[in-house]
Amino acid sequence: MRAADLPEDFDHVLYSQEEVASRIAEIATVIDHDYAGREPLLVGVLNGAVMTMADLCRAMKVHCQMDWMAVSSYGAGTKSSGVVRILKDLTTDIKDRDVLIVEDIIDTGLTLSYLVDNLRTREPASLEIMAMFRKPEALTAPVDVKYIGYDIPNEFVVGFGLDYAGRYRNLTDVATLAEHVYK
Ligand code: PRP
Repeated sequence: MRAADLPEDFDHVLYSQEEVASRIAEIATVIDHDYAGREPLLVGVLNGAVMTMADLCRAMKVHCQMDWMAVSSYGAGTKSSGVVRILKDLTTDIKDRDVLIVEDIIDTGLTLSYLVDNLRTREPASLEIMAMFRKPEALTAPVDVKYIGYDIPNEFVVGFGLDYAGRYRNLTDVATLAEHVYK
């Protein structure tokens, strides 16, 4: 789905499908260089990271493997608690592996902050983060991100894996939602 297919749902397009593809290709080139001679394990965080993972790994030229985690905020369902529950853990033993976490978005940073602490205890050889989007204004937990696609405003941004009420993940452009959709 492109933004032009549902023009009334969006305020404006932040990044077109073509711009996103081009940014992913740039990041993949840097990753290829950084991981030359190694075989990283890409760890995707379900669900939003599916699009980023699929496009990033296919743009890479070094061998890689993939695994997935599913997490959710614990307790009252508020992300701000910072306590994360693992719903699906890795199937791979990451001890001595070069691990690259792949995320769609860093909002408060609490999810990644928890994941990094958790995965570090498993003694990977290295642990880095690639995130397609980051909302600097929303960040409350410090997260050391090596590869970042775009910094975006703290608004209702959807597409390329980012959802609103479960919708718009399959939007190939990245756009801000029109107010009537969420009010
Ligand atoms: C999103 C995103 C990150 C997390 C970031 O996941 O994929 O995992 O929120 O937020 P934070 O930086 O404030 O912790 P979400 O819980 O919305 O699930 P989803 O991936 O299924 O969309």
